[in-house]
Amino acid sequence: MKLPSYQEARSRKKAAIEREEYHKEKELSHIGEKKTYYVKTYGCQMNEHDSENIKAMLEELGFIESLEMEASDLVILNTCSIRENAHNKAFGMLGRLKHLKEMRPDLIIGLCGCMAQEEGVVDEILHKYRQVDFVFGTHNLHRLPMILKKYMDSGKQEIEVLSVEGNLIEGMPVKRASKYKAYVNIMYGCDKFCTYCIVPYTRGKQRSRKKEDILAEIRSLVADGYQEVTLLGQNVNAYGKDFAEDYRMENLLEDVAKTGIPRVRFMTSHPWDFTDAMIDTIAKYPNIMPAIHLPVQSGSSRILKRMGRRYTKEEYLTLFDKIKEKIPGVSVSTDIIVGFPGETEEDFQDTLDLVEHCQYDNAFTFIFSKRENTAACRLKDDTPLREKEQRLYRLNQVVNRYFLENNQKLVGKVVPVLVDGYNENGKTQLFGYTDTNKLINFDGPDALIGKIISVEVTEAKTWSLDGIIVEPKNH
Ligand code: SAH
Ligand code: SF4
Ligand code: F3S
Repeated sequence: MKLPSYQEARSRKKAAIEREEYHKEKELSHIGEKKTYYVKTYGCQMNEHDSENIKAMLEELGFIESLEMEASDLVILNTCSIRENAHNKAFGMLGRLKHLKEMRPDLIIGLCGCMAQEEGVVDEILHKYRQVDFVFGTHNLHRLPMILKKYMDSGKQEIEVLSVEGNLIEGMPVKRASKYKAYVNIMYGCDKFCTYCIVPYTRGKQRSRKKEDILAEIRSLVADGYQEVTLLGQNVNAYGKDFAEDYRMENLLEDVAKTGIPRVRFMTSHPWDFTDAMIDTIAKYPNIMPAIHLPVQSGSSRILKRMGRRYTKEEYLTLFDKIKEKIPGVSVSTDIIVGFPGETEEDFQDTLDLVEHCQYDNAFTFIFSKRENTAACRLKDDTPLREKEQRLYRLNQVVNRYFLENNQKLVGKVVPVLVDGYNENGKTQLFGYTDTNKLINFDGPDALIGKIISVEVTEAKTWSLDGIIVEPKNH
């Protein structure tokens, strides 16, 4: 049994990260025969992509995907630690699964993802959630087949969580959720240690994938007809900083654009590492989408300092203005935390001022959530929750107004849209995303799914657009 240790997780060892090829254990290939599985994913795109690897590994073992959790033989929860409510959701689900297991003792329950990397969570699983049969962490995803086999052989709770990242595993199988849009990891982990954030503990130190591996993956996606890749990392702008050679995010973006993939997106960008060269590259290549997620977190330089974000309000605004000036038609979205320990009404006003300036196209807003073991969890926090909730409400009023205003500016314009599929309105309405990452709904035939088409925007709403197809041809 290997348990997580926060102390080890915090350490950043110098040892070089080796590249290792995924090895399929042939003798295990039958253990899932005639069994079904269900994977429930919480959290960010990184977790969604990990679930794509998990599903493919399970299918190599013979398991078949089921769309119904209640009817599955194996349920895996791929969890997220970012805020308390992510925790609560997963624990709530474990409660439901306990009942299910009482009725069906053969049900196998696994837990993985960021919560598995937390000391406190694993401790609770050991003592309170005995219905969980196996646990694996973010650093040993590739060990799933072995861990599952060990549990199936012994019937005993199997916990294997590494606190420190191991080798960089290449060539893991993947069952992609879409045939047109793909996630591609370019780096793992994070070394920024923003004081509120748990990710540097749950995902380990920053490790960039080799450009050859990334580009080979993207070239094979192009060959398979994929239209869009999203380059993933907690802090993609720091890509390559852990390499000896001088190959950074701007170089990677350029090489990815040159593969000919019709659309390139990337997330998330920390403002600290956003270089002028990156801005120029994004502006230069039409297939790098003009949509940038640039989390600000707070508009108060005092709070930013306490958050460990390493930029001031003024530095952020300078970068923001440069991006807007150099990349025509760019949309910018952000993340904002309200109620960080010590945030005063004046600090909050600074955030509102910044939002008035930036007029974001989209924003994810959160109330500060105390995360075990992070630096911010030791800070004095005397703002009542009610006050924080009111700040969140006031902030949302302002950001929502700008979502709508920005969308209204698009009415009458023709925009390129990658068609995703039918929307919830039934069988005639399609939906897709514009180059600037706006959700748009329009009528059309299913033959257009997976294609990039021109759509005229006819109506703007706060969170989406309506449109009509102009010409059903490729861009
Ligand atoms: N790597 C990304 C952030 C990933 S987490 C970045 O640096 O931009 C996504 C968002 O969750 C963060 O941008 C932040 O706004 C929010 N978040 C992270 N930790 C939080 C916490 N403890 N409480 C509230 N929100 C948090
Ligand atoms: Fe968390 Fe900061 Fe790293 Fe983003 S950059 S994952 S917010 S520590
Ligand atoms: Fe959550 Fe882990 Fe992603 S904490 S946001 S799943 S990196």
